[in-house]
Amino acid sequence: MYYDNMSGHNVEQISESVHWVGVRDWDRRLFDALIPMPQGTTYNSYLVRGEKTALIDTVNPGFEEELIAKISTLMDPAEIDVIVMNHAEPDHAGSLPIMLEKCPRAVVVATERGGRLASMYFNVPDDRLHIVKDGDTLDLGGRTLRFAEAPWLHWPETMFTFLEEERVLFPCDFLGAHTAKGIWSDQNEEIYSYAKRYFGQIMMPFRKQGQRGVEKARQLNPLIIAPSHGPIHRNPDKIMDLYDRWTDGETKNKVMIAYVSMWSSTSKLVHTLSEQLISDGVEVVVHELTGSDLGEIAKDLVDSRAIVLGSPAFLGGLHPLAAYAAMLVKALRPPAKYAAVVSSYAWGGGAIKQAGEILGATNMDIVGTVEISGPPGEAEHQAVIELAQELATKMRG
Ligand SMILES: Cc1cc2nc3c(=O)[nH]c(=O)nc-3n(C[C@H](O)[C@H](O)[C@H](O)COP(=O)(O)O)c2cc1C
Ligand SMILES: [Fe+2]
Ligand SMILES: [Fe+2]
Repeated sequence: MYYDNMSGHNVEQISESVHWVGVRDWDRRLFDALIPMPQGTTYNSYLVRGEKTALIDTVNPGFEEELIAKISTLMDPAEIDVIVMNHAEPDHAGSLPIMLEKCPRAVVVATERGGRLASMYFNVPDDRLHIVKDGDTLDLGGRTLRFAEAPWLHWPETMFTFLEEERVLFPCDFLGAHTAKGIWSDQNEEIYSYAKRYFGQIMMPFRKQGQRGVEKARQLNPLIIAPSHGPIHRNPDKIMDLYDRWTDGETKNKVMIAYVSMWSSTSKLVHTLSEQLISDGVEVVVHELTGSDLGEIAKDLVDSRAIVLGSPAFLGGLHPLAAYAAMLVKALRPPAKYAAVVSSYAWGGGAIKQAGEILGATNMDIVGTVEISGPPGEAEHQAVIELAQELATKMRG
């Protein structure tokens, strides 16, 4: 570890010619203006030094000075020859305008679609773009970068970069995690939980492409996986094995219940339903939506076989928090096969109908619904017990 006392910035050598020069953002609370990040995140940038030098990805806008200070502890940034842009999203490419000024001879390496996005977002001029295709290599003199197109992980232009001599894979967002804790993944005891949460929110909608991504990563046979968020993996098989399962959509005998209730009628239904599922041997996790963490919901969606939504009728439809959860489920395309909805209303109802409209557009089979007026009595409790039993039977089958 090198430490620059003047600026307090450390850089980390991760293999013979690679240094991590990324930044930690402990303070960031939301990603995509939506999902909480309890341990912040990192924007990982890596310096690869052969006879020529390549910078792999940059950092979120606002951290440019820190990136430059870190690079300066190792070399003059003006001598960087290549900036690899694996992904055009601003958390990795947002420092390009400043870096292109500070590195006057550097060209930006990107896929063709990446090049177009780099012009659109960051005004990277054509004469400073070097477009690569799947399998292309770049000789740094003694060190070779190989590029692997990995579209839709999680934008259309994404690619992986592989340092052949040291077998370091830079898959950008793929295989990453939002946590600022640890340089190496074995220094963060919750890493795979954070990685699962991140998978659920970012990669789950692209499971098919993700399967191809893991295959590509395995073919390269990396010793180190250095993603663009979170710690670096020096035991790469573990994260690739998990991604195999998550991208395959392997589910557990597990139900994720998300519900909201204003006067506890819906919550009573949910309580009875969850108790029945548990006694039928089903793993149950319940998220009460006024206090829930969307990242945890995304994480539970990764391996739940069924989803239950609970909502009172609210101005002719779902309670807004339940509508929000239903929209999230639809958008994230989890592998769950079954769904059920329970609701309480006082006059015209409407929650079940709206839930059907949203969830009907997914691949899930809506096993059943229970809609009751007011608080539940014995017959209503019996109806949700039967719904739970039917759900448990279908899940076993
Ligand atoms: C703001 C608000 C809007 C409501 N809108 C409707 C509605 O459009 N249709 C209906 O049948 N009931 C409506 N209700 C009544 C509730 O759906 C009913 O009280 C239900 O039993 C509440 O279930 P909960 O105890 O799970 O909150 C509304 C209640 C509130 C407070
Ligand atoms: Fe991204
Ligand atoms: Fe990212």
